[in-house]
Amino acid sequence: MKSIKKAIIPAAGYGTRSLPITKVLPKEMFPIACKPAIEYIVEEAIDSGIEELLIVVSRHKNLILDYFDRSLDYEAFLEKKGKHNLLEKIMNPRINIQYVRQPFADGLGAAILLGKKFVGNDPFAVLLPDDLFVKKEQSALQELINVYENYHSSVIALEKVKEELLKNYGVVKGSKLKDRSYEINDIVEKPRFNAPSNLAVSGRYIFTPSIFSYLEKINKGVGGELQLTDAIKELLILENCYGVQVTSKRYDIGTEEGYFKILQHFMSNRKEQEDR
Ligand code: UTP
Repeated sequence: MKSIKKAIIPAAGYGTRSLPITKVLPKEMFPIACKPAIEYIVEEAIDSGIEELLIVVSRHKNLILDYFDRSLDYEAFLEKKGKHNLLEKIMNPRINIQYVRQPFADGLGAAILLGKKFVGNDPFAVLLPDDLFVKKEQSALQELINVYENYHSSVIALEKVKEELLKNYGVVKGSKLKDRSYEINDIVEKPRFNAPSNLAVSGRYIFTPSIFSYLEKINKGVGGELQLTDAIKELLILENCYGVQVTSKRYDIGTEEGYFKILQHFMSNRKEQEDR
């Protein structure tokens, strides 16, 4: 069985919910303490055994490439000043990162499709960079990998969501297996009414490479975008797909509320450490 060593981070969206700041600052670069949000996503990937990353960017996301590049001037400056403890802070994460540009934000499905060559014949993970998960014991992605290792099929992260909020998510119909895992029978993108359950899709996935054949088959869906949900719906006709209600806490930094909440989380953690 092939293990999950590759991951795609789609980061080419316009971030319209966070305007006006996203005109100049991608939401993936929003600071959380002294690191940008996307660094926590890269750390989660490394923590879960990922070795190769493809980040899907756009013309407005060059800051992400700059951030993960070496800063030779900072290195020289800190070296000269003998500030070796700070040098460690600016070292790049130990992972191979590649980039591809999405010319126009025509959907999450279209962004993932750009990773077809990178993925080849391997199963792979997708981490949405606006969903930050704070782990309890294992990372959210690791929880998905555990389920993948049982079934060798695609796996989606799920979260129970209040009924009035389901219209903002992909929502699944699933049969409960054991612990927090489900076999998924159906999926609906942003149901306006009659949602099939209260289990919403959140931003971590594992796919077998067959997902690309479904992404290539579907037409543009909700919002005129190529929807990942529609490809998953096609996949469900021919293949098994599983869901896992992850134990990590999710913060959607694409909303003001989610962003404030994760800052609060970091601040109260810091206070706890100071009080010890
Ligand atoms: P979202 O819909 O949450 O992000 O897409 P968005 O489009 O950037 O933000 P809003 O809704 O306008 O505020 C989920 C993820 O998929 C990526 C986004 O960057 C985000 O990380 N995405 C979305 C792409 O990479 N390409 C797309 O065409 C659409």
